[in-house]
Amino acid sequence: MCGIFGYVGQRPAAPIILDGLRALEYRGYDSAGVYVAGSGVVKATGPVDIVASLVPKTWTGTSGIGHTRWATHGPPTERNAHPHSDMSDSLWIVHNGIIENYQALKEGLLMQGVQFSSDTDTEVLAKLIGSLYRGDVREAVLAALSLVEGAYGIAVMSEHDPYRLVVARQGSPLVIGLGTGENFVASDAAPLLIHTKDVVYLTDGEVAVIDRQSYSITNRAGKAHTRLPERIEWSVETLQKNGYAHFMEKEIFEAPSVVENTIRGRLLLERGRAKLGGIEAHLPHLASLERLLIVGCGSAYYAGQVGRIMLEEYGGLPVEVELGSEFRYKRIFAHDKTAVLAITQSGETADTLTSVRRAKEAGLLTLGIVNVVGSTIARETDAGIYNHAGPEVAVASTKAFISQLTALALLTLAVARERGLSLQDGQAIAQGLQELPAALQTVLDRAAEIKAIAATYATYRDAMFIGRKLHAPIAYEGALKLKEVTYLHAEAYAGGELKHGSIALLDPSFPVVALAPRDAVYEKMISNIEEVRARQAPVFAIGTAGDHDLSRVANDVFLVPSVHPLLQPIVTVLPLQLFAYYVGVARGLNVDRPRNLAKSVTVE
Ligand code: F6R
Repeated sequence: MCGIFGYVGQRPAAPIILDGLRALEYRGYDSAGVYVAGSGVVKATGPVDIVASLVPKTWTGTSGIGHTRWATHGPPTERNAHPHSDMSDSLWIVHNGIIENYQALKEGLLMQGVQFSSDTDTEVLAKLIGSLYRGDVREAVLAALSLVEGAYGIAVMSEHDPYRLVVARQGSPLVIGLGTGENFVASDAAPLLIHTKDVVYLTDGEVAVIDRQSYSITNRAGKAHTRLPERIEWSVETLQKNGYAHFMEKEIFEAPSVVENTIRGRLLLERGRAKLGGIEAHLPHLASLERLLIVGCGSAYYAGQVGRIMLEEYGGLPVEVELGSEFRYKRIFAHDKTAVLAITQSGETADTLTSVRRAKEAGLLTLGIVNVVGSTIARETDAGIYNHAGPEVAVASTKAFISQLTALALLTLAVARERGLSLQDGQAIAQGLQELPAALQTVLDRAAEIKAIAATYATYRDAMFIGRKLHAPIAYEGALKLKEVTYLHAEAYAGGELKHGSIALLDPSFPVVALAPRDAVYEKMISNIEEVRARQAPVFAIGTAGDHDLSRVANDVFLVPSVHPLLQPIVTVLPLQLFAYYVGVARGLNVDRPRNLAKSVTVE
């Protein structure tokens, strides 16, 4: 949440910082601001483009910092936008995170006569650093951070020392980008790609000083840390819309290639196994587990729910799935036959990260299914599977969700074969994974049908999603997607649960989206749809190819290819993603940046 971008170099800084902020805008887009040393400060509510339109062309300064905000303390007004300054307006700071003891610090500063012009915790930090400044920004930052409780990624620059950027990380990610005669810092690696692929990830508790030629890292006590640069593999094209109207559309249409990338080099077709380099060493231990705890938030949590059924049904492994925001407060029972699996696209979600840390403290093996290479959770888990889905820019997760389910299917195959799944059954899953991209493409080729159906349902105010077994979590994911990008009221239930209360909501104005592939619970699902129809609720049913009966019970039907039952939810979720996308577009909304949301939720 919130995006930070900083630059020290020889080129005019403003356009570079503004481009960096645009690429980070998915982290927050309430307001934005930029400070360029020797030139000035501009802040505004709304997207980065508004700030860009206000930056004078005459700004020639070659170092500066910028910020795009997801509001925590104080509404998204211009006065609360970053950067914030010290008392003399010569030291400027941008911040991502929450300073928990800001109120106590503010009272102390008020008693010293310091005046504040915003509601933010960040301004308190800026004034605190200013009050401790004795001619060296780094020293002032270190002194201030020793008084601060909370989470932060900060970048600080002083008018008096404009070619030294001081940055610090505790809980909120920061990545240094290394150029030639110029260096960068950003909240994640994506905006650095157009400048450099050589990056240095800061870890919690570290402070770095960056100038045009070099960087140096210490801990908060000033002890030097040596860190060699790493190379990012993502290409610049993945950060562009490439002809699509929205990133969400582009990312949905990437589903086949995303699955190809997630399974690449990981399937042993003849042996009916999956080869997952990252967890290979832990496979015997995983196979001997008595319990796996999966943690995640939002869509990643629903992916975990699908994973639970995969691992229980095919691997015989008992699994529990917990929300990161709840697991972190739970009592954890240390047990060497229990492991924790964190699922996260960004690898930075605060609640999931804290869950991993708590599990580690309890002595549990921690694993990750993570998309962003080099992210904190990727680093802090003992082992893991990278999604290789490429950067996901739209706030609503689509391709990452599909990739998470694919990675869970691979994990299931790997673990299940160790736990007694037959060669033949393993081969069938491996073959099914191999054929998955083609099945997904078949759905995408018929996206226009979903668009037409979505146009009808965009006129309602509510929607109920139902599914059973592997498709119950998919119903929840479909409802979440619709809520996020259309602001319609949507809820989800396991099909059998409706009659225990929520069916009372249904009438002709309350449509139901029903997931009814021909699987073990198909007949039960049809009964649930009949119950819905009896209340005259319109039904949009998603079934599998060849099902001519569904149109008897549903107003609208979309049939997806039938694939291996374990993999069916990966195909079935795709029309739901398209449905949410097209309803959002039909309602004229900015589907890539839904209101009140941000990608990468780094606050608790
Ligand atoms: C929904 C969505 C969120 C994320 C959740 C976890 O479309 O994107 O629910 O899934 O915030 O994020 P990660 O996967 O980055 O931990």
